[in-house]
Amino acid sequence: MKVLVAYASRHGATQGIAERVAARLARQGIEVTLEQADRVRQVDAYDAFVVGGCAYMFHWAKECTTFVRHNERALASRPTWLFSSGPLGTDLVDEKGQDVMATTRPKEFDELAARVRPRDERIFFGAYDPHAKPVGMAERFVGLMPAARNALPAGDFRDWAAIEAWAEGIAGELATAGAAAGGR
Ligand SMILES: Cc1cc2nc3c(=O)[nH]c(=O)nc-3n(C[C@H](O)[C@H](O)[C@H](O)COP(=O)(O)O)c2cc1C
Repeated sequence: MKVLVAYASRHGATQGIAERVAARLARQGIEVTLEQADRVRQVDAYDAFVVGGCAYMFHWAKECTTFVRHNERALASRPTWLFSSGPLGTDLVDEKGQDVMATTRPKEFDELAARVRPRDERIFFGAYDPHAKPVGMAERFVGLMPAARNALPAGDFRDWAAIEAWAEGIAGELATAGAAAGGR
């Protein structure tokens, strides 16, 4: 059973989540390749996929969206999981009483889920360091406005227990699938 964990991360938070998912899968005896989504050259060798990207301004990392669209056929025909690393803080409900995991679901997920029908999709809390070097125009702009910069909760809110539990669930499903397919 070979699994590709493809990710995109601007500041490293999502990379950390992808690494933890990959490590958990490897611990269960799965052969895992961890690679940046925009560096993946071929997908044919893999039996399953986990694709995870950061969310900025309501959009999933472009590299991940492109990867899923480009490899739609392979991903749709094999077990695939999607995750996004986005909301900051620990609140599950926002000030308007709305479900944070629903309001931070990347805009692309409806389209991508329809394309590849993932086994599951998950939004994880992310991390934000207001002193990190800005990446891209939008962040440089935000960095110039202290009010905007300080509006976002700073800190590392990644929920490792939730991330590991999700990865264990994937490993469990793959073990079942592998056994059914004759242990490929
Ligand atoms: C300018 C800016 C915009 C952001 N927009 C969103 C957003 O629309 N939705 C969301 O869930 N998180 C948003 N975030 C939070 C990031 O997605 C979060 O910090 C993420 O974990 C960063 O991942 P990375 O370190 O892999 O880039 C935003 C963060 C910044 C700095």
